[in-house]
Amino acid sequence: MKRILYVSHFSHDWKSNEIQNLADKAAQNNRELSITGMLLTFERLFFQIIEGPEAGIASLFNKICQDPRHCEIAIIQTEANVQNRLFKDWHMRAFDLDRNPDALEYSVKVLLRSLLGNFELIGMYNHPGILEKIKAGINPAAIAPARIKKIVMFADIVGFSKLSEEIPVESVFKIVTSFFEIVTEAVKKHGGAVEKFIGDCVMASFSENSARNAIGAGLDILLNTSKILVPVTAGNSPETLACGIGCAIGSLIQGNVGSGDRLDYTILGDTVNTAQRLEQFTRILPFSLAMTSELKHAVADFFPCISLGVHDLKGKQTSVEIFSVDCPVARKQPAK
Ligand SMILES: Cc1cc2nc3c(=O)[nH]c(=O)nc-3n(C[C@H](O)[C@H](O)[C@H](O)COP(=O)(O)O)c2cc1C
Repeated sequence: MKRILYVSHFSHDWKSNEIQNLADKAAQNNRELSITGMLLTFERLFFQIIEGPEAGIASLFNKICQDPRHCEIAIIQTEANVQNRLFKDWHMRAFDLDRNPDALEYSVKVLLRSLLGNFELIGMYNHPGILEKIKAGINPAAIAPARIKKIVMFADIVGFSKLSEEIPVESVFKIVTSFFEIVTEAVKKHGGAVEKFIGDCVMASFSENSARNAIGAGLDILLNTSKILVPVTAGNSPETLACGIGCAIGSLIQGNVGSGDRLDYTILGDTVNTAQRLEQFTRILPFSLAMTSELKHAVADFFPCISLGVHDLKGKQTSVEIFSVDCPVARKQPAK
């Protein structure tokens, strides 16, 4: 069975008896299709729940969407594989919450349950900080930008463009998904946050005192991505996936950027650029992980660090000394 919860706006001023007539007619139709549910009205809004056999719900919802008596229909939740009905005795019961507030309690419970489901989805698609703020009752859009010190990490797949040209897009999709899973797991395990996915690249951040964790996460990523097998052009055996990681520590701005229509809660600043440039620079270094000297100082007691020399990074005015961790996971294997 399937269940759909949606809200819509009145297209005209409905009279109470009109809504009752609609519900009566709906109940008659729904009984034949074994559909149950309820219809709430308040402040020129409908909130309806319909549940029943999958095909019946799909065709009814299609009809409802085309009904000119309401507009701006927004699905709050669609549930597939529903085992139990919420309204087994009601083929369609209408409540006018403006006149009958007693019906509110149950409706609010149902609404809250579906909102919780939506929360999880918001968390999956957005920066974890957004959901934390919403749950704490803070409007994320109203947060003023703040300058903070953080560790930024960029991790991406080496040779991704070439790979995309050579193997089917479905395989590319699978590889990127596996890569993102590995990076996300390592970042979370070490207490960091995935800031965003950018193409085949992941931008993550760690608090300023988590240098050891950030580099630990980087080494985990390198170790685990080296286990992913990438199919190559016909006849050749698969290769292991290579990735590059750049890490920098410093001050940056965290906050909302964008327009009134679309906001992105993100981090910006020189530290972010440096981490990204370092990650790009690993392409020509003998190591897959590169970090700044300030970060090296913070982790030197925990990892055997190695200087990779002083280099000019694209877009940076001064040369920087680049460091890595002197261990087999970070050191590139000589080409066979
Ligand atoms: C807010 C709203 C909720 C509705 N809910 C139902 C419903 O649960 N069942 C139903 O048969 N029609 C419902 N309708 C009416 C349908 O849009 C459509 O007019 C009706 O199914 C047509 O029925 P008929 O094919 O028997 O003429 C609803 C309409 C609106 C505006």
